Amino acid sequence: MSVSSLAEMTTESVGRPGDPCVMVIFGAGGDLTRRKLMPALYNLAAANLLSREFAVIGLAREAMTTDQFRDKFRQDIKEFGTCALNDDVTEWFIRRLYYMAGEFGDPKAYAQLRDLLDKVNKDHGCRENYFYYMATAPTFFAPIVQQLGAAGLVPNDGEQWRRIIVEKPFGRDLDSARKLNRDLLQVVREKQIYRIDHYLGKETVQNILAFRFANGIFEPIWNRRYIDHVQITVAETVGVEQRGGYYDQSGTLRDMVPNHILQLISLTAMEPPISFQADAVRDEQSKILHAIQPLSSEDVLTHAVRGQYGDGHDPEKRMAAYRSEPSVNPDSATETFVAMKLHIDNWRWAGVPFYLRTGKRLPQRHTEIAIQFRRAPFVLFRDTPVESLSPNILVLHIQPEEGISLSFGAKFPGPIMRLGNVDMSFAYSDYFGSSPSTGYERLLHDCMIGDATLFQRADMVEAGWSVVAPVLDVWTALRPRTFPNYPAGAWGPKEADELLARDGRKWRLNDNHTAKPAAAAKS
Ligand code: BG6
Repeated sequence: MSVSSLAEMTTESVGRPGDPCVMVIFGAGGDLTRRKLMPALYNLAAANLLSREFAVIGLAREAMTTDQFRDKFRQDIKEFGTCALNDDVTEWFIRRLYYMAGEFGDPKAYAQLRDLLDKVNKDHGCRENYFYYMATAPTFFAPIVQQLGAAGLVPNDGEQWRRIIVEKPFGRDLDSARKLNRDLLQVVREKQIYRIDHYLGKETVQNILAFRFANGIFEPIWNRRYIDHVQITVAETVGVEQRGGYYDQSGTLRDMVPNHILQLISLTAMEPPISFQADAVRDEQSKILHAIQPLSSEDVLTHAVRGQYGDGHDPEKRMAAYRSEPSVNPDSATETFVAMKLHIDNWRWAGVPFYLRTGKRLPQRHTEIAIQFRRAPFVLFRDTPVESLSPNILVLHIQPEEGISLSFGAKFPGPIMRLGNVDMSFAYSDYFGSSPSTGYERLLHDCMIGDATLFQRADMVEAGWSVVAPVLDVWTALRPRTFPNYPAGAWGPKEADELLARDGRKWRLNDNHTAKPAAAAKS
């Protein structure tokens, strides 16, 4: 198929519009709403993926009228919109925006919300389908759902549906996640709860399943017989910005591992599901999460590394230490970097380490899953100038580069046998153009059509917390003595390199990768 026909196919097959519905955003005055949710809804409207019978009610503490909310949207979309603005779409969308001020714990606010929902329903024909988006601080998730229940706003009866989208963090450890699940499930049923992880809104993450299961050539080698190990890097160059208050209580482990990184691992490692039905996919992901070998306290000392950035070395960039960031305790023991080695106890993966690392103030913004295959036998090259063979590495580039590359050895031109590492690469932009997506479009649309495949079930969230629980316990009990232990702008503390070096391996990204002759070639 040519590049252009592929492109046509993708625009034709974007899907049906969401059901008629009202989206109620709790916390509509916040950053998530203006930076992500509204631009995502706008993109859906521009792509005709919202029902014509759609409306939004923003609810927050701030005193504001609907007109002011609409004006605010007009300004915000200019700043945060990701597609070209179109006057018709903007006006259509604005007519569907409503706002009400209210305290999340106040029953009167919910009586008022019921009245407003009735009015909006009548005006826009939304068929009494509602979904409630919790874009608030996590302490409000359960109280809001309890109030919605008490006000009779969540029953999923007959023709109408009622759904709840819960943002992360879903709890701050296993116990609090379990409690939150219990609290929500006292009011609504599991199938009404959509626990969001925005990593699953990324095309490159969704593509992991397509890549693995729509191509016959990879699956046969996707196992312990051919794969040496897997490296997952989620690197950010930013520090904690204005989120010091939240971050200092959370730390990188809670912020990134039980959710985003375990999603990447479960999609990479899961067995083929029997269908793309929500529970078929989630059952397989869940099995992987449950198969991750629990770490003992001793394992935590050798398999998990934490770091915190200090001042940057580069005087031109002037990056301040984490402990000097706004709202951070000057004596903070919170980690801004994590590296871990995990094993998955099943037939496919026994003995294959999954190394992961993530952190703030690293040298590059880059997320990738690198699958390193076992080396070919060297025997044939014994009598040549080649000293060693490089492993093949398949890299799923998640962001900001979006694509897939496979590195392999090729003969370096010339009369003698020398090898160079070369890459076969696919970049999304070459085939599909660049997408205006915020990453939330697909997830919001899925909620509007009742497809929960890309959302977390209660058991998955709890399994994710179980994986990190021993690390949280040990790290809480043992205050780090060496913090800060990496300069802003470096690839984390040296212990992260030692974690792999002990196994005779190294992090792929710490080297420069180019198609140059391998250093292994003898001159
Ligand atoms: C969020 C974390 O969930 O994900 C942030 O709270 C992190 O700390 C962000 O920066 C990373 O998301 P993305 O899409 O930029 O990789």
